[in-house]
Amino acid sequence: MRHSVLILLAGLVIASCAPKSEMDRFIDDLMAGMTLEQKIGQLNLHSSPGFISAERVTEEDENAKLLRQGLLGGIYGSGNPALLRQCQEIALESGAGIPLIFGMDVIHGHETVFPVPLALSTSWNMDLIERSARIAATEAAASGINWVFSPMVDICRDARWGRIVEGGGEDPYLGGEIARAMVYGYQGRDASVGTDEVLACVKHYALYGGAEAGRDYNSVFLSRQEALNGYMNPYKAACEAGAASYMSSFNEFEGIPASMNTWLMQDILRDSWGFDGFIVSDATAIAEEVNHGIGDLQEISARSLKAGLDMDMNSDGYIGTLKESLEEGRIKEADIDRACRRILKAKYRLGLFEDPYRYLDDARYNSTVYTQENRAAAREMARECQVLLKNDGILPLSKGAKVAVVGPLAKDSDAMKGTWAMSRKPCVTLWQGISEVSNASYAEGSWLYKDAELEDAVRHSIFRAFAPGMQIPPVHTTPQSALIAEAVAKARQADVVVACVGEVPNMNGEGASRTDISLPDAQRELLQALKATGKPVVMVLVTGRPLTLVEEDAQMDAILNVWSPGSEGGYAVADVLFGDANPSAKLTTSFPRSAGQLPLYYNHKSTGRPHPDDAPYKKFVSCYIDEVNAPLYPFGYGLSYTTYEYGPVTLSAGEMPLNGTVKASVTVTNTGSRAGDEIVQLYIHDVYATSTRPVKELKGFKKIHIETGQSVQVDFTLTKEELSYYNHDLEWVCEPGDFEIMIGPNSRDTQGAMLAVKAADAS
Ligand code: BGC
Repeated sequence: MRHSVLILLAGLVIASCAPKSEMDRFIDDLMAGMTLEQKIGQLNLHSSPGFISAERVTEEDENAKLLRQGLLGGIYGSGNPALLRQCQEIALESGAGIPLIFGMDVIHGHETVFPVPLALSTSWNMDLIERSARIAATEAAASGINWVFSPMVDICRDARWGRIVEGGGEDPYLGGEIARAMVYGYQGRDASVGTDEVLACVKHYALYGGAEAGRDYNSVFLSRQEALNGYMNPYKAACEAGAASYMSSFNEFEGIPASMNTWLMQDILRDSWGFDGFIVSDATAIAEEVNHGIGDLQEISARSLKAGLDMDMNSDGYIGTLKESLEEGRIKEADIDRACRRILKAKYRLGLFEDPYRYLDDARYNSTVYTQENRAAAREMARECQVLLKNDGILPLSKGAKVAVVGPLAKDSDAMKGTWAMSRKPCVTLWQGISEVSNASYAEGSWLYKDAELEDAVRHSIFRAFAPGMQIPPVHTTPQSALIAEAVAKARQADVVVACVGEVPNMNGEGASRTDISLPDAQRELLQALKATGKPVVMVLVTGRPLTLVEEDAQMDAILNVWSPGSEGGYAVADVLFGDANPSAKLTTSFPRSAGQLPLYYNHKSTGRPHPDDAPYKKFVSCYIDEVNAPLYPFGYGLSYTTYEYGPVTLSAGEMPLNGTVKASVTVTNTGSRAGDEIVQLYIHDVYATSTRPVKELKGFKKIHIETGQSVQVDFTLTKEELSYYNHDLEWVCEPGDFEIMIGPNSRDTQGAMLAVKAADAS
């Protein structure tokens, strides 16, 4: 103890003697001239729906008034360079004259839209993911934005949660790799920030994906140990990659809302991981602490600030109450200064003090945004993000075939765009993509849902919330029976049916939880009618979450899950359907057989009474009466137009000293008739540990290209890092003993070899 105090004191002395950086001196001088109100103003972030679509700031706009008083540190939600320039001018003319930071939800591309994040994750291609973020950054930056609210790295094990679409799936190792790639894409790989780089904002910190029962904003009940082992790695990896900011989440953890949670923000993020950027709250998250039952706005604002939350998004808790709290002694001026300094540092890093308009270059917008090149990249990415779930041999289709393209999503451009896409450009629809390369006919086929009220809600509630006064078209204008009759007639005249079904964007994303995650009833009725024609049916599934597809898996001839594939979606889907591209994506979330299995994830623990995943019901073991434990499609699963054969797993040694390394290898052969890309996955299982460990944990993967008939040896290097976990005392440890090392094409079909890890002093 005495020893560590001495080290701490020595550290403080060294720190206080270390020469200040140019940035610190600049910020010292700046802050010395700022009033208390101006400092608090820097901690305030705003948007408003009207403001997002506005062309100019008007005198009456609330944001303009705050800007004139120097009470805004940044604004978010607009990608209109003219509007942002005007805001910057007002900010610079006001009081302290400090430039604004401009944020935006750039989640999967900007004007050029890439596949939704969950889809991108199924590529398991980190170069591709980094490139998507890089292009998004250049387009955002050219629109005046310098701070993006991405990556969203919340691990989710429950497909009922609509926001599963925004993240990288259920695995913390893969999630960490994705988080890193995204941060590098947005911010670049070194610390300097040019005008093409923007600051990343990692969200939602933390554990938001653990929402109980998959209901959005719900409480999270996890132990610290499970949080660290199962959920936190992506947030940590983003920090290691240099993420400049974090967004606190809506949920509570251990009875304390995340936005005022000292353990999350201070102990873990800052003290343990060394994060030195700023933390912004999620929209109105501070004010929502009143609803969580913690205190009034003044109390919760003071507590959030003290816990390390620097910027208040849309609650007005900081500008409204911090001054009073300071006067009453609830907070110290140093608390405000600390937060203000962190935000000013971010602005300094962006170069805004040198040139507040450096992102506001009108000419750049036209030459950078939604270019042919970016759209080509979007198409290439979307080809790599489609998961072939089933294929009886009907795919790929011949371009000479007569194709009936039916279904309510066939001509839906927004369904291609997906959630959180602010782009004003329409996307290429499935119909466009398919009909341009084949002899195709079209029928809408069905409603979304049989319940008109429900259909109206999923289609239009977002407009009612954000575009009051907008003309909302009626639903169910044509009877379902007529739509189906037309589709059946078209199917009968065709060689093959492509049924375009699934979720429209508002059926997933924020505030879009579902208890029933099957295909909506009206669309299932359409599929049955199509099947009854006897024609082969290829189901093209548009979705933002895993769905329960037992019935479809039994009935359809092929199922291609295309998610929401983005700007060039229709073309990319046609590329795969007609065999110009060979599908290679693999699931990053388990697809349950029934919603009753949720939460469902491959890296679960073993109970004391385990039961084989696919075995039928048995009394007094851990299983269900009416369903097997296995998912329909497991984590890591996805088919190709070719086939691969895996050889046995070999280890370079059966024993590994604690600080040593071992090579695990497998030979994969392309046994089919096409070249393809295969994602080879390595899993471990810690057989005995001082805490219970998951039955399988992903610890490595490689995506390799294999020509027909060719064999490729794939090697993975294992060290104690891959074999470590947070033990009961929350220490990161590798405990000597036996580990099963497994390799395979997905999390279910693996083969293993045993590895014994020896303690350092064991002979
Ligand atoms: C969402 C965030 C988003 C923010 C700003 C919130 O409702 O939870 O993910 O970044 O709004 O748009």
